[in-house]
Amino acid sequence: PPGAQTRSMNPIDIVIMAAGKGTRMKSRIPKVLQRLAGRPLLQHVLGQASALGARSAIVVTGHGAIEVEAACASGISARGQFDLKFVRQEPQLGTGHAVQQAAPLLQGDGTVVVLSGDVPLTQPDTVRALVDACADEALALLTVRLPQPKGYGRIVRGADGAVCGIVEEKDATDAQRAITEVYSGILAVPARLLLQWLPRLSNQNAQGEYYLTEVVAMAVAQGVPVTTHTIDDAVQVAGVNSPAQLAELERAHQSRAAAALMEQGVRLLDPARFDLRDDARSGARAELVCAQDVEIDVGCIFTGQVELGEGARIGAYCCIANASIAAGAVIHPFTHIDGEAAGVQVGEGALVGPFARLRPGAQLGRGVHIGNFVEVKNSQLADGAKANHLAYLGDATVGERVNYGAGSITANYDGANKHRTVIEADVHIGSNCVLVAPVTIGAGATVGGGSTISKDVPAASLGVARGRQTNITGWRRPAKKTAP
Ligand code: UD1
Ligand code: CA
Repeated sequence: PPGAQTRSMNPIDIVIMAAGKGTRMKSRIPKVLQRLAGRPLLQHVLGQASALGARSAIVVTGHGAIEVEAACASGISARGQFDLKFVRQEPQLGTGHAVQQAAPLLQGDGTVVVLSGDVPLTQPDTVRALVDACADEALALLTVRLPQPKGYGRIVRGADGAVCGIVEEKDATDAQRAITEVYSGILAVPARLLLQWLPRLSNQNAQGEYYLTEVVAMAVAQGVPVTTHTIDDAVQVAGVNSPAQLAELERAHQSRAAAALMEQGVRLLDPARFDLRDDARSGARAELVCAQDVEIDVGCIFTGQVELGEGARIGAYCCIANASIAAGAVIHPFTHIDGEAAGVQVGEGALVGPFARLRPGAQLGRGVHIGNFVEVKNSQLADGAKANHLAYLGDATVGERVNYGAGSITANYDGANKHRTVIEADVHIGSNCVLVAPVTIGAGATVGGGSTISKDVPAASLGVARGRQTNITGWRRPAKKTAP
């Protein structure tokens, strides 16, 4: 189990404080359900519990509790193997009061890790190092050096460098405010110690809140070692309080994802204009798997599971969700590909776009061409088939080397049911045709431009279904009346 990666022998129980209102988000959605990379903040934090191999995670809810609990229950993917529990904190009387609510669910044999539901980007290695610093006996604090420590609790150390307490900004003296080592809000402590300390917290401070940070002074008074794990990366402990902070952390997360891809050899033309998100509809985790020599131009958004084969090139400003794009395929700019649950497959060397739309169940063979303003849904196009301009293929089976003319569509829906169109190999469909399904166009047949085809066309024949052309010789256009 991942838990074996820490030196801690105790089982790990996570307490996630998630009762706060998040007033500055100015949103009806509870703060911890706001999304970063398509995933609720709280799911990012629950990911820590999985990474640590935790025994349980206890989420302390308050504002929007019903919604938060429901969202966790449905987003099971990030839950991993641990036992997920909820406790309510009503009203919210501070971080110490929040953890007090979880106390009845804590077992004395565990190590407790306290996290905040609105701090999404802490790296698993960081939390592991903190658990190691606790080593089943100490109170371990994750601290961070911040040049601008305003608003944070300051780590107060004695002459010997040992921690003597945490002082909140509002309770601090001027000298203490100058301290740049701050408490991240994340700690690890043996449950047996925490359970002794929690009932003794007071609210005698500037904010009249029960501060969890008061346990530090209790540990010191009792001779329990207080250890720290200190990092310089403020992003890992940054909380989300406003839309601007959420956007900042989104960018930090995306640059990490971009850097990891570049590390594997993926060529991103601008890592600052790259996005990879979970699929909020299915909860599917974001995963972009790239073979060698993949090139991705600026402004692309990848969602859910996407695979890019060797040498595949993605043009600027494409949105690609749940799709597999084979080697050598080129997706030209502004193409929208969304496989939803059924997926989309683009074959080797296919050319798609610009401005194309591939919907669920689109399966393109090798060397298929899909041009501008062409929509494909639940259709298989065999190798070498082409639909280059302004067309719709829905519920169709298209054979090899078919040429599907500009402006042609499959009328696949009769108002009640969907029907299939079968276009066999080497068919040539002229421009502006309507193929009224169910209908089959036999191999090698031709459909004349402008036809509305509602009966099968036999192989190797020409199907035409439109008014015959009439020419009236010497036709005179109406002339404008002249004033008398
Ligand atoms: C807390 C720390 C401070 C630290 C800072 C890091 C205390 C007293 N102070 O500050 O030292 O530098 O975090 O961000 O702990 N919450 C509840 N119930 C409550 C109060 C808060 O669930 O009654 C939740 C919030 O939703 C949030 C988290 O706890 O997710 C932290 O609360 P917040 O108010 O942001 O922290 P501070 O008290 O400002
Ligand atoms: Ca507070």
